[in-house]
Amino acid sequence: MAELLKLGVLISGNGSNLQSIIDNIEKGSIKALIKIVVSNNPDAYGLTRAKNHGIPFAIIKNGDYKSKEDFDTQLVNILKDNGVELVALAGFMRIISPILLKAFPGRILNIHPALLPSFPGLHGQKQAVDYGVKYSGCTVHFVDEGVDTGPIIIQSAVPVLDDDTEETLAARILKEEHKIYPQAINLFAEGRLEIKGRKVFIKS
Ligand code: GRF
Repeated sequence: MAELLKLGVLISGNGSNLQSIIDNIEKGSIKALIKIVVSNNPDAYGLTRAKNHGIPFAIIKNGDYKSKEDFDTQLVNILKDNGVELVALAGFMRIISPILLKAFPGRILNIHPALLPSFPGLHGQKQAVDYGVKYSGCTVHFVDEGVDTGPIIIQSAVPVLDDDTEETLAARILKEEHKIYPQAINLFAEGRLEIKGRKVFIKS
């Protein structure tokens, strides 16, 4: 059997994307294992999800570090100590510094709740409702030095309905997030993602 890809998952909150990754690993749909879950929020519900599945976790609090660089250095140490090969940001509410990027070049993924390049940054769902678009969705992409600017791996679109609020749209998008993030991670695990410039090609 081929070796499993060693994952580190970074969270700050509810961790429903973490849960979908765990569930897909457990049913054999992702050829990976989670070596460590790291949260910058000690109260993140995602930590309970990790505990429930016997997955090791670490907490690093923003306030405990003098600078973003010190925080990211500690984060890299934790990930490297656990042998992490791919970092999955799953609702991690921090902009990462070049320290993390350099430690994991081409090996950091993010899920964003909008069809990038539309509505990057915070509150992608609210931005879509306020703008009046008829479709929004979610995007899994490689992380680069920008905010939600890296090469796109998979997107999924959902309709935006006339009576949608930020919450109702977010719920519709989240269902798609839970499908495409595991898919993207498994494509990476199978070595099927090829980045050429801005484009990501999926090899068959
Ligand atoms: C998701 O909407 C994700 O796209 C965004 O943050 C949210 C995290 O949700 N980056 P959860 O913690 O995975 O439930």
